[in-house]
Amino acid sequence: MRITVIGCGYLGATHAAAMADLGHEVLGMEIDPEKRAALSRGEVSMFEPQLAEVLSRHVESGRLRFTGSYAEVAAFGELHFVCVGTPQQPESLAADVSQVETAFAGLAPHLDHPTLVVGKSTVPVGTAEWMAQVLTANSPVGSEALLAWNPEFLREGFAVQDTLHPDRIVMGLQDGRAEKLLRDFYAPMIDEGTPVVVTDYATAELVKVAANAFLATKISFINAMAEVCEATGADVVDLADSIGYDDRIGRRFLNAGIGFGGGCLPKDIRAFVHRAGELGIEDAMTFLRHIDDVNQRQRERVVDIARAMVGGKLAGARIGVWGAAFKPDSDDVRDSPALWISGQLHLRGARVRVYDPQANVTAGQGYPTLSYADSAIEACQGADLVLHLTEWPEFRQITPADLDGVVARQRIFDGRNVLDLDAWRSAGWKVRALGRR
Ligand code: UGA
Repeated sequence: MRITVIGCGYLGATHAAAMADLGHEVLGMEIDPEKRAALSRGEVSMFEPQLAEVLSRHVESGRLRFTGSYAEVAAFGELHFVCVGTPQQPESLAADVSQVETAFAGLAPHLDHPTLVVGKSTVPVGTAEWMAQVLTANSPVGSEALLAWNPEFLREGFAVQDTLHPDRIVMGLQDGRAEKLLRDFYAPMIDEGTPVVVTDYATAELVKVAANAFLATKISFINAMAEVCEATGADVVDLADSIGYDDRIGRRFLNAGIGFGGGCLPKDIRAFVHRAGELGIEDAMTFLRHIDDVNQRQRERVVDIARAMVGGKLAGARIGVWGAAFKPDSDDVRDSPALWISGQLHLRGARVRVYDPQANVTAGQGYPTLSYADSAIEACQGADLVLHLTEWPEFRQITPADLDGVVARQRIFDGRNVLDLDAWRSAGWKVRALGRR
């Protein structure tokens, strides 16, 4: 099919490249001329396994092109996927949906033949209904410009794989023709056995935020348990393993540590709370404020633990930090717990040296005053304390012997609960982690 993808950031670039890979002809719409030029050269600005390779392959094959013109987009495609970002507003908990509004307002006047527009962005419930009205009111074909809402559940680090092999396809729609088109479009995935849920707009919008809210809740639940474990001498990893064996609970997203970050979970739960307030049901969502607070508390606890581990005074302490990205296999530092902690330690006078295998550059843009090292070992040169904050596999390979003669003091904090604490302890290191014995 001939499709277009409006907004070629994380979600859009991945969707465009993956759909070209499935055999569709894809035209990506990106208003930022620099980003558009880079994409047209087959380059992606973020680190995402497989993405650069798939995208450049299809730019070369001619199956994937980019434009800045809505008129060209409208003329090209049978299906238009809206994939623009909905970040948190600077002064509010609410999501900023201005890019969604701009995309629909820009596209609608050019829709002069029956077509289907598919919203994929994560939006506050009620947005789809409103965008359907924008389409009907502003497109020459009126109500023949159909709308479906089809949320995306990809994880950074697995974006291409998740897009090509989703665990479900949710279609929020009002018209059987939209369902038929989407089923044809997603036929390769549906034939693979991917479950399809056909529902209304509001449910489709809510599925996405509810899923992220549930994941955030699992993480904050286990992090709260970690604090109980510390107070009682229990071990949160054994606890998570044991409750996780119960299928009704499940082990995934029960890794205690410094908490969740990134461009999705934190802003989605805040936007959800805000929207609930607008709907007059804020009390029903109050628990999400606690989920956010527990998450923030983890970061603050690490600052306190670091202070205690260096003897009570952060000023002048040398701290080596492993990890800056909000999670491994990503160079994304949006709302990254690792960087927040590093920044706070720096503000309190510590001499912080950070190393991340992929995110040194993105971290440096947001936190230029921190110092960055070219390797995990270099970050620890002369350190009074080592903090393991993003669980890149290479950090697990480092042994205490690798740091002999490198650090000033043998103290390590594991913020992700994946290091072999016994190995570090038996080598004479002072070790701390969250919720561990
Ligand atoms: C999240 C969701 O997992 C995706 O399904 C969703 O599509 C996406 O948001 C989105 O809304 O676009 P992502 O932000 O890539 O994906 O990251 P996650 O893998 O969910 O991790 C989020 C944070 O939780 C990371 O900081 C991670 O370190 C942390 N986390 C995760 C934990 O602290 N403990 C865990 O057990 C799992």
